[in-house]
Parts: sequence; C-alpha cells; structure tokens
Amino acid sequence: MATQSSQWNNNTAFLLAATGSAVGLGNIWGFPYKAAENGGGLFVLLYIFFVITLGFPVFMAEVFIGKKGKSNPVSSVESLAAKSNSSKKWGIVGYAGILASLIIAGYYAVIAGFVIDYGFISAQGVAEGTAKDIWANQQSTFFDMTFWTVLFIVGSCYVVANGIDAGIDKAMRFLLPMLFILVLAMVGYGAYQGDFNAGINYLFSWKADDIETTGQAAAIVQAAIGQAFFSLSIGMGTLMAFGSYMPSSQKVSKASGVVVTADTGVALLAGLAIFPLAFGLGFDPKEDAFGGSALVFETMPEAFAQLGVIGQLVGPLFFFLLAVAAFSSMISILEPSVAFLTQKFSMSRMKATGVILLVCISLSLVSIAGHNVWKDVSVGALDNPFEFMKYFADDFLLLLVGTGMSVFVGWRLQKVIDADTMGISNTTMMNLWVFILKWVSPIFLMTIWTLGNLQVLFEYDLLFEIINLF
Ligand code: PFF
Repeated sequence: MATQSSQWNNNTAFLLAATGSAVGLGNIWGFPYKAAENGGGLFVLLYIFFVITLGFPVFMAEVFIGKKGKSNPVSSVESLAAKSNSSKKWGIVGYAGILASLIIAGYYAVIAGFVIDYGFISAQGVAEGTAKDIWANQQSTFFDMTFWTVLFIVGSCYVVANGIDAGIDKAMRFLLPMLFILVLAMVGYGAYQGDFNAGINYLFSWKADDIETTGQAAAIVQAAIGQAFFSLSIGMGTLMAFGSYMPSSQKVSKASGVVVTADTGVALLAGLAIFPLAFGLGFDPKEDAFGGSALVFETMPEAFAQLGVIGQLVGPLFFFLLAVAAFSSMISILEPSVAFLTQKFSMSRMKATGVILLVCISLSLVSIAGHNVWKDVSVGALDNPFEFMKYFADDFLLLLVGTGMSVFVGWRLQKVIDADTMGISNTTMMNLWVFILKWVSPIFLMTIWTLGNLQVLFEYDLLFEIINLF
C-alpha cells in the first residue's frame, strides 16, 4: 500500500523542517553573489517579487499535494490524479521531483564537504595572501574531497534513517535556533567590523545600466525565479513529503507563509553578513572573487586571514553556520526518495536510507571529479559534470516540476481543493491562488525556461530575434 500513516507529532514540526530545508547554502552561498552579479537591487526586487507572486503560490500547491495525498511525492500525485479522474501519468511530476532531489544531493554534499573542510582550515589559521592557492589545492584533491563529502552524506542519512520524529524533528529543533543565532551574530559582526554602507550599496543599488541585451534581461529574470524556487525548496518533492506528515489541524497557507517569510529574511541577512565584511577589509569586486564558491572559499578565508587571531574564531563560526544550514537542507533533500522507497517498495526506513546513501555517494563522486579529474570534460554547453548536474537540476528540472505541480493543482485538482485544508476562507484569495496556478505561473515559468535554456545551451537570444522581426 502506497499511503502512510506517519505524522509530525506536533504543529511546529512542519514549520521547523520546512524552514530548515529552505534555509540552506542557497541563501548564504547562493543569494548574495547572484544578487551582486545580476543587477544588485534590481535582482533583489525581482527576487522578492517572484517569491510573493510565484514562489508562494507554487509552494502552497506542493504542500497541498502532500497534505491531501498523504504519501510520498509519486504516490500522492498518483492518488490525487485517480481521485480527480486524471491519468496516472501525472505521477511523472513526482518522479521528476525525486530525480531532481537526488542530483541536487549529489552536488550539494560536495559543497557542504568543502564547508566542513574549511571550518578546520580556518580554525588553524590561514596566512594572508594564501587563500587563493589553498582553494585551488582543495579542489584538486579527489580523495580529500571524497572524505568530507561522504562524511556529510553519512551524517545526513543517519538523521533521516531515524525517522521523522526521532530523526528529522529532533535535529531541526536543535539546528534551526542555532542557525538563526549564527546568522544574526555574523550580521552584527559585519556591521561592527565591516563597511556596512558599502555592503548595502553593493547589494541593493540599482545596476540596471549593466543590462545591454534582451537576452541578459531574460537571464536575470530566470536567475531571480530559479533562485526563488531553489531557495524555497520547491520542485523536488521535499515539500510534498513534509506536507504529507502535516497534522490535519495545520493549515497549508499559514504554515507556508511562515516558511517563505523566514527563508527570504535569512537570504537578505546573509547578504548583510557577507558584503560589509569583505568591503570593510578593502576587497574590490572588480579584482577579487565575489561570485559563488570563490566568494565563500577564497575571498572570505582571505578576509578572515586579515583579521589574524580573531579570524581564527570568526572563520570557523562562519563555516559552522554554513554547515548547519547545509545539513538541515540535505536531510530534507533525502526525505522524498527515502519516503518513496519505503512506501512504494515496502522497504524498512533503514534499508531505504541505505540505498539512497549509495546513490548519493555515487552521484557525488561524479560531481567531485568535475572539480579535478574530469574538470575539463564538458557536458554539452556546460564546462564539467559538476556544472552540468547543477544546471540540469536547478535550472532545467526544477522549473519543469514547478510548472507540472502548478498545472496539476490548478487544472486537475479544482474539485479536490478545499478551503479547510488550505486555510483560505476568503473566496477571492482562493480564486486568485487558483488563477495563478492555472495561468500565470505555467505561462511565465515556461517562457522563462525556454528563453533561458536557449540562451545557456545554444547562446540563442530568442527574445532579441522576435523583437528584431518587428
Ligand atoms: N533550499 C535549499 C537552499 O536554499 O540551500 C536547497 C534545497 C533544499 C533544495 C531542499 C531542494 C530541496 F529539496
């Protein structure tokens, strides 16, 4: 039997688990540099706009499927499809979500492995001027990287294997408060030690002048939507799985609102923690690495090196913060596939986690090799297997699954949707939500998906070609 009877044993468990899932490397490692690279304040505004108009409605759709379907992502979609006289093939949305979650697990664990490694490196102290070499060296060591990555995967699997209450809920109760305290401490430290104004200016100033082509504009919009969805953990089955454990008294809209707000707040705070510190120490975005991995693993360690002994305290604290955020997210990335195996194949939770552990380790090895032995092995237009996995899951699959869920709930589940489960008593609000799911999000997501993929995979600026026709 595909359905399950597990349920969080209290009303805060979903809030903690879903917030722990949403707040992750995407907020602290991803958001600040994507904002900086994509038009600063313009990106931040677009991001917030899409979180409210598309992210929040699709987030609720995903949680709704889980809560109503009461099962793993595939079985939930299939049983709701049956209830609404729709084809069982809708289950493919669930399968695609699980596939995305596994690929993400494969590369996410590698970045988390670096984070743990850097916690130790920064505690030992980094000599000024050496961070760049250390980072190059760390990426070249296949076996070291494998060690930290596997450690991280085994730790996350241990929590998941213990079940939703004794494992996930217990871990989140401890991790999440720690995460918030650490973020606030880093913001406070950045404000005290760094150049707060320069940081705010960099993050929030309007850099629209840099946009020269329509392709660039489309790419910024795609980056903002992709970041909003990734950060909210939409499209990977996690929210369906966590939603399926929701007690009946909990309402989808309220619970989703809390998680979406907390996640957006932490993303903004992370930017306020990182950039003031870097500017305060005289880093220049034109010369120093201010993007992605290089920002966190090159520029930040160099910043800590300049702080001397204090850096040996602040550095590990920063990486500890990142590790906690990554850990709570990784747990949630594993849950959909573990739930799927336990329910669809009647496996014990322990056995299912064991299988997923092996799958994750195998995928992570490919992603690790993308940093060294297969560094120059390009996959299509993407530089190496690591970049490919990131692109395929985050930009390709995620928006597809998001669209699939939106269409499924908006078009097929209209008779199944009920005000009580949603916690929306106002009919106008309910109609607005369904309208967004039916029309706005599918049309918008698929347009951006098409334009963005054409640009990235084929360097083809379709929008420009269309405009040129007139
Ligand atoms: N939302 C997480 C982050 O911002 O880092 C990443 C994530 C977690 C993605 C869970 C997908 C997921 F299922």
